[in-house]
This record gives sequence, C-alpha cells and structure tokens, in this order.
Amino acid sequence: MMEKKKVFLTRNLHDFALKELEKIYQIEVHTGKVPIPRRKLESRIKEIDGLICFPYDIIDRKLLDIARNLKVISTFSVGFDHIDIEFAKKNKIRVGYTPEVLTDATADLAFSLMIDVMRRVSEGDRIIRKGSWKEIYGAYDYTGTDLQGKTLGIFGLGRIGSTLARRAKSFDMNIIYHNRKPISKTREKTLGVNYVSFEKLIRQSDVVSIHVPHTSKTDRLFDKRIFKSMKKTAFLINTARGKIINQKDLVEALKKRTIAGAALDVFESEPIGKNNPFVKIPNVTLTPHIGSSTKETRVKMAEITVKNLKLGMNSKKPIYSVGF
Ligand code: DGY
Repeated sequence: MMEKKKVFLTRNLHDFALKELEKIYQIEVHTGKVPIPRRKLESRIKEIDGLICFPYDIIDRKLLDIARNLKVISTFSVGFDHIDIEFAKKNKIRVGYTPEVLTDATADLAFSLMIDVMRRVSEGDRIIRKGSWKEIYGAYDYTGTDLQGKTLGIFGLGRIGSTLARRAKSFDMNIIYHNRKPISKTREKTLGVNYVSFEKLIRQSDVVSIHVPHTSKTDRLFDKRIFKSMKKTAFLINTARGKIINQKDLVEALKKRTIAGAALDVFESEPIGKNNPFVKIPNVTLTPHIGSSTKETRVKMAEITVKNLKLGMNSKKPIYSVGF
C-alpha cells in the first residue's frame, strides 16, 4: 500500500475536519502552546506535503526554503500576510485561504466594538468589577457618545467594510470611505457611502474602522501623525491586522487623549499579555482576535480550509487561492 501523504496542522480543528483529513492523509496536530514554537515548525516543514496554519504562524521564506515536499498551505483565515506568497508561488506551493464565510462575523465584531467603545460598555463592566460604581454615580460622571448622526470612516470598503456600512446605516450614521479606487457610483448609492481621500477620511471621521490587509503600504500607517490629524473626539477600530497601527504611538495618543478611544481585536504581536501597555489604559476595548470566531463561521472556515488543502494536495487550485 502506498504511504499516506503527510499533513501538519499548527492548531486543532473541528473533529469533522480532522476525521475527513485522516481518511486520506497521515496527520499531525500541534496541540501545545500557540503559536507553535518555531523550531517545531521547522522540523515538521521539511517532511510534510500539506500545511494547515493560522494567522499566528509566520510562514516566511526561511521556513519555506527548507520544505522539500510541500505542495499546499491552507490557512484558516482571510488574511495571508503571515505567508510569503511570492516565495510560495516561485516554489509552486499553492496557498488557500477562507474569505467570504467570515464577512458577517467580522463586520459584526467591528460594529460591536464601535458601540462598545463609544458607549463605554466594557469600561463600565471593568468599573463595576473594581467596585467603583459609586464613584461615577452623577448624571454626567460617565457619559458615552451617540452613534446616530456621526461619521463613520471605513478604510477599505471590501466585503467586510461594505457589510459594516450596511450595519452602520441602520444606526443612522453618515458613511465615508477610502479605497485605492472608488467603487462604482451605483454601488455607492446602494450602500449610501461617499468616497473621500485618505486625508479627509482621517480628518472628518468620528470613528475610523480599518478593513485593509497588512501590506508594505499599510504597515504602521496609523502613527502619531495620523492620530494628530484625527478629531480629538474620534475613535479608532481595528479588526484587520495589528501591524497596520504603530502600537507605541497609539498608546501615547490614548494616554494623552489625542483621540477619544480605540477598540482593538488585533495586535502587532499576538497573543498579548497583562503587561501590554494597552491593558492599563481605560479608553480602549481589547478583544483576543475573535473577528471570525462564531461557532457557525468557524465550521464554514474549517470546511473551506480542508477543501483548499485537498485541492492543493491534488495539484489543483484551491477554491480560494492566492498566488496561483
Ligand atoms: C482572518 O481570518 O484573517 C482573521 O483575522 C481571523 O480572525
């Protein structure tokens, strides 16, 4: 009997997905610390035919260079900035990813973070847990900000950005956006959004929500210069990638109240611990990278991750493919 091809998973997946993989492949799952220690990943990458990975895993040139048999990388994410796509392509390694199925879940999280930080929901929860409710008992001691009538600036009006726009419309917000290229006038009208330059987006928005990928162009784009251009009363929401923001500058801006607040689901390096400077700042809501994390969405992501892997193992293009 022919030996089964080897597939390595850097983190556990649903049982149905593992069972499906096991029927065809010899699988190994890393169940220890997340992210997987680099040395372990290096030792496995040499031998495997297929890899299932997650946004925490850095699949760079150095790692891919030692892979001898790797045919496909299937990432359980819409983002693929953790993978050296150019190098994978050059080495005929297919890359699959999981867009579309997580659009609603991620837009919902961006929307809930926006309400949370503007209405100071999590901050209030923390105050009660500290036993400090009596200190904010006056009528004006603890006020948030209305969403209605405010301008939401969406940076990146793709699938997730457009879905967020629809949510925000029903809360009577004005919506402006910036993309590399404006969307069609018909679509702008349907969504009720207006295109503006990046500078205007930053200056005019009461809330800026980031929905672009992390690339060399967006790397640490949100820095002190940008925070100074934002309204003092503005909020920043990030459910895209942590590295789009200069974290140190944001910490400063929040402490000095250069902007009013932020809500972050993603960070420069993840996971963050209790010594991270954001943890001590009251006007920031933090969530542990849960944009796509609903039961329903994660099942759909697992299904696509497995399909993408199987196609790549058979030298076919994944359903959602980056590179080739
Ligand atoms: C993705 O899929 O890239 C998201 O960041 C995961 O939550």
